[in-house]
Amino acid sequence: MKKTFPEDSVNIGVNKITPYKPGKSSDSLNMSKEKLIKLASNENPIGPSKLATKAISHIVEEAHRYPDGNGTKLKQEISKLEKVPLDCITLGNGSNDLIEFSARAFLTNGDNALFFKHGFAIYPLAILATGADLRELPVTKNYNQDLTSVINFIDEKSKVIFIASPNNPTGSANTLSEIEAMLNDLPNDLIVFLDQAYFEYIEDEHYKLPFDLIDKYQNLVISRSFSKAHGLAAYRLGYSISSQKIADYLNRVRQPFNVSSFALEAGIASLNDKEHLRKSIDLNQREKNKLMQFFKKENIEYLPTQGNFFSFSLDTDSDETFEAFLNEGIILRSLKSYNMDRFVRVSIGQEYENDAFIEATKKIKGSRN
Ligand SMILES: Cc1ncc(COP(=O)(O)O)c(C=O)c1O
Repeated sequence: MKKTFPEDSVNIGVNKITPYKPGKSSDSLNMSKEKLIKLASNENPIGPSKLATKAISHIVEEAHRYPDGNGTKLKQEISKLEKVPLDCITLGNGSNDLIEFSARAFLTNGDNALFFKHGFAIYPLAILATGADLRELPVTKNYNQDLTSVINFIDEKSKVIFIASPNNPTGSANTLSEIEAMLNDLPNDLIVFLDQAYFEYIEDEHYKLPFDLIDKYQNLVISRSFSKAHGLAAYRLGYSISSQKIADYLNRVRQPFNVSSFALEAGIASLNDKEHLRKSIDLNQREKNKLMQFFKKENIEYLPTQGNFFSFSLDTDSDETFEAFLNEGIILRSLKSYNMDRFVRVSIGQEYENDAFIEATKKIKGSRN
């Protein structure tokens, strides 16, 4: 049979991947930054900690040196603050790296891995790249992830399940007791990857996962990100906590210098800037309440969230709503690629940005009546 190149040469799973579409930036839209309000990528609207920026300035002249491939100082800081053993920590170039390591270390052709429908878009990409099959679990009609259903979808070929709590873009989260019940149900050789990229924003304590869970569940990986509440998305930094044995495997597939010196220094400084973190969280809570009141008053369908974003629907096609906001100078995220055809996502911004979003929503909605 005649072969075509490169289609027939590429790894079978890679052929099945639909490339990730990031939220639009002003650069990609070729529009002036001053005129645009970017509420597309769940970033911290007040920016990074000043201490992190200062820490970087001290090492710019050191750019010719490789970073500490072990990230020792940052790991020591995490270990001290979170009371976890040093060798249970794995550092990533963003928490996306930890998702990839978990897929690469545990999955291969013939295996399968699970994630919930409307789950974070990187899970299927990381799974498919290994040659493993996808198992997409249904969500409830309110877009919640029903963890009691997981056991019904696994078989002896299931190796990993990825769950974000809170999930992006649905905002839904699972309580600690729901998660423990699931962990007790599942076989202990299935890796459970719990993604807590939005951990710091969680308001209801029941949704926060303590790291000491890894003492009881040796198959558990919990990830955190510096891209959200810490405001360090551009530096690319995240970490996971797991049993020492799993951390050892994750580190085997990690590139030796996956985290830059700048990310390491910024991360240490940011962890110690409690005031910046508090300010970021307080702003999010205040503005989240304001937006929620607005959605309710205007009868706009929205999904409750434990994160720093809302998914909502103006009851028209997602891409059309995205374009309508863009015409008003506001970049949102269309959720078509998440199979949520009538939803768009708005990140919670600074006060003036959210006010502009509210005014634009009223205008767009008004023009349709
Ligand atoms: C649920 C979830 N997990 C992980 C990430 C990855 O974040 P990063 O790689 O920037 O740490 C994101 C980013 O949007 C996310 O929404």
